[in-house]
Amino acid sequence: MNKMKLLTKAPRGTQDTLPSESHKWQFIENLALDTARLYGFREIRVPTFEHTELFKRSVGDTTDVVQKEMFTFEDRGGRSLSLRPEGTAGTVRAALENGLLGDALPVKLSYVVSCFRNERPQAGRFKEFHQFGVEMFGAAAPGADAEVIGVANDIFEQLGIQNLELQINSIGCPECRAKYQQALKDYFSAHLGTLCGTCEERLEKNPMRLLDCKVPECAEIAKDAPVILDYICNDCRKHFELTKVNLQAMGIAFVVNPRIVRGLDYYTRTVFEFVSNDLGAQSTVCGGGRYDGLVETLGGKPTPALGFAMGLERLLMILDKQGIELPSPQSCDLYIASIGEEAALKAAQLTSLLRKEGFFVEFDTVGRSLKAQMKYADKLGAKLSMVIGDDEVSSCKAKLKDMGDGETKEVEFKDLPEAVYQKHLKDLADEVTDEEIQF
Ligand code: HAM
Repeated sequence: MNKMKLLTKAPRGTQDTLPSESHKWQFIENLALDTARLYGFREIRVPTFEHTELFKRSVGDTTDVVQKEMFTFEDRGGRSLSLRPEGTAGTVRAALENGLLGDALPVKLSYVVSCFRNERPQAGRFKEFHQFGVEMFGAAAPGADAEVIGVANDIFEQLGIQNLELQINSIGCPECRAKYQQALKDYFSAHLGTLCGTCEERLEKNPMRLLDCKVPECAEIAKDAPVILDYICNDCRKHFELTKVNLQAMGIAFVVNPRIVRGLDYYTRTVFEFVSNDLGAQSTVCGGGRYDGLVETLGGKPTPALGFAMGLERLLMILDKQGIELPSPQSCDLYIASIGEEAALKAAQLTSLLRKEGFFVEFDTVGRSLKAQMKYADKLGAKLSMVIGDDEVSSCKAKLKDMGDGETKEVEFKDLPEAVYQKHLKDLADEVTDEEIQF
């Protein structure tokens, strides 16, 4: 690509969020954080990059994410750093470093993060993407699994998303997993020669990772591999059964999918995914589960933990596909046009006053003709407009025009905030009436 073109082209797999879309992001992020707050989750913000070792230890150094997808670089001191490929590792690190897990348990944290994975971009798959997630520490009971799943479910329900399927599974604990790993080794060993190089390498060290290899030949073989549910121990089975009972008690529909293993190494016991038909190949909008061993792996005391993350780009894709509109931002309440220098100053003064009252007001900062100012007011979708000239400046009043029905009325400048507020109330009342009519 020629060098000049690079200046106006974002890197592949990244996206700009334009003003016409950003309100959707704000709405979703606020809704997610507010919903989680009702369950006791409080927001944490962690760095965009961490020591590479953190991801190797937590996500796992034989996972695709760590082996193939991380953006890794050295700082000037030769330390290896990586852009976060996900939010859990950094959150656990921060919780440990800042002593959060010494507080009364459970500790519940939520976050909105950008993540980076050097994957081949396709619909719903980006190199930079965003997650909303929650992590809960210190809760071992199956009720916690249902509660965490409940947060995600609640968010999807509030957004009015249809046709999402919650799939759950248990991938057991390190004890029961040993038997399963042996069964996988036996199964996949019979296919040596057909498996990709990475799978052959991983077979000894981490056979479960062969189950989420994206190479078509490996995926075909993995379809008939043994499933973990046939191997889990009694304690894990009991935990899984009670998780299901809790979900039922909360009225959350689910299906058991014994083939979910998740692509990250830290999981134990319950794993789950919310899957949508509206996403094409990348059908998972939210994934999570328990990771009871991770806090200890990273140097903390043994602490049960669990969480999920939902991909915000994928969530927005579903909303678009399903025609779900999110509330659009407040539009311009009033445009104050002016003729002449003194009037322009008055317009600036009134604008400033009204903004302090919380109204969205614009005036001319370009030096346009009156005609051009009114055209701009139209483009802005201003609800009201007012033209100020010398006469209006000296009489301290002007005509306020309703841009919807064209009606005008004279308003003294001192009464302007009240007049704009009345228009605001009228619009709200009209909105409610419209909704009532629709029902
Ligand atoms: P994950 O399944 O790797 O889990 O990612 C969670 C979600 O992030 C996915 O379901 C998907 O919606 C979105 N996502 C992942 N990769 C991409 C991509 N390349 N482009 C667009 N969206 C993507 C985790 O990250 C775990 N940390 C979740 C978790 C939290 N488990 C316990 N706590």
